[in-house]
Amino acid sequence: MHVGLIADPHLINPNDSYESRLETRQHFAEAWPSFRTVIEELNAAAVDHVIILGDLVDYYTDANRDFALSLLEDLEMPWHLTPGNHDYAVPTDESGSDTEHDQEAGRCGYAASNVEISDRVLDLDDVRFILLDSALSAVADDARSWLDSVLDNDRACVLCTHVPLDVDPVVEAIHAVEPDRNLEKYVQRGSPELYETTLAGRVDLVCSGHLHFPARATIDETVQLIRPKCIRTPHTGYETDGTIATLDTADLSWTERQIPSHDPSDGTTCPPESIGEPEGA
Ligand SMILES: [Fe+2]
Repeated sequence: MHVGLIADPHLINPNDSYESRLETRQHFAEAWPSFRTVIEELNAAAVDHVIILGDLVDYYTDANRDFALSLLEDLEMPWHLTPGNHDYAVPTDESGSDTEHDQEAGRCGYAASNVEISDRVLDLDDVRFILLDSALSAVADDARSWLDSVLDNDRACVLCTHVPLDVDPVVEAIHAVEPDRNLEKYVQRGSPELYETTLAGRVDLVCSGHLHFPARATIDETVQLIRPKCIRTPHTGYETDGTIATLDTADLSWTERQIPSHDPSDGTTCPPESIGEPEGA
């Protein structure tokens, strides 16, 4: 079985009413056609499942959620989401000049469209995939006892969580790429003991997003993989943008592929017809 891994689509409804955000987040607002290409690549790869490693939307509104879901309708296999910090970022005024994290709003909003984002387990083939909410750079107080109950020493375990673990090898791997990254936000600074107390020796692979560039670290026998963002942002971004990974459950090996660059003149930039005007702020 093969599982597609993608990170950080940051989708914004092109008809979004938060004009200020359309302007300040233009790089993401213009990137959605490349997500359509991501879906085409995943369909062509014929993966069996897709796991989205957070930040499906750039900020949570029902309109952005519905836009994302309309694009995901073209995916030919089941998909699963673990939330990122942007899935909880809610505009605080009518212009959308700022956002604040509101987990309840994000959770209720996704739940209203039957999108599961809670901590949960997917047993795919002989591999246990554990989807864990670390969106705000920490896990919930009861996450450790829950992890204790679901970590299975008799099978391979893959932890899928938006924010990378807060352990020295991961910190070093991030700083090797960007020495100035603020680690209060970009690792699980709120749960620094999670690996030592709960995960050590019990997880084979940790897959995260959040940084938008790729990095890799090895913690004892556990590999921490940080996935680059799957979309291509016009005029900005990293050379690794537009990358998807395919994980083979037989041996937890993965392959990567970069989606082709989007050509704005190829006529595919019309949003899905099902997208109407978003609700007002
Ligand atoms: Fe992100």
